[in-house]
Amino acid sequence: MSNIKACIFDLDGVIVDTAKYHFEAWKRLANELGFDFTLKQNELLKGVSRVESFKIILGIGGIEMPEAEQVAYREKKNDWYKEFISGMDEREILPGITDFLQELQSKRIKLALGSASKNAQPVLKAIGLFDTFEVIVDGLSVSKAKPDPEVFLKAAKGIGIDPENCVVFEDAYAGVQAANAAKMFSVGVGKEEDLPHANIIISGFQDFDLESLQSHFG
Ligand code: BG6
Ligand code: MG
Repeated sequence: MSNIKACIFDLDGVIVDTAKYHFEAWKRLANELGFDFTLKQNELLKGVSRVESFKIILGIGGIEMPEAEQVAYREKKNDWYKEFISGMDEREILPGITDFLQELQSKRIKLALGSASKNAQPVLKAIGLFDTFEVIVDGLSVSKAKPDPEVFLKAAKGIGIDPENCVVFEDAYAGVQAANAAKMFSVGVGKEEDLPHANIIISGFQDFDLESLQSHFG
């Protein structure tokens, strides 16, 4: 029987609520392009890379744009996003996460980060969790975006643990797909209706601990 040796965490929407900053920046860009962008539409962008996100936004606005121009807009959005995250601190860590990470560390469970974001490292530094993860795999270190399992397989390799002994925490549809494709145990953070393919669903990390995780694993 396999047991839990490592936990791999997505960042945006699992450890910290940066979705609101991505949203603010995309909305500002959409408004500048002459159309509105709603919170509901923002759901489509969770876990999706910057390049793909902008394509979705252009689709919403019914705009066609040459790639060279898209690059400049994406940079603009990222500059705004970086401005937002520069003001973050540990108060923005989602409830229950700090205690859960400390419990995992005290029980010698290895910790890794698997994020699509190219800003994962500055965000982790801003919230004081940069040194918590033994391995950080982010948007700068993978070539294939989620739902491809590359990000999680690379994280598992980095910490030297077999996929069957890894648990992934994800809030995005494509992220859960990536975890399942990596043959890891997937914990969907959110609602069952949004993440029906996750092995288990939790609404957040309050009232969640290693014992509850182990009761579902294997
Ligand atoms: C994911 C977010 O973690 O990272 C997406 O859920 C975001 O909303 C993606 O687009 C890429 O992030 P960044 O910081 O590289 O633009
Ligand atoms: Mg996420």
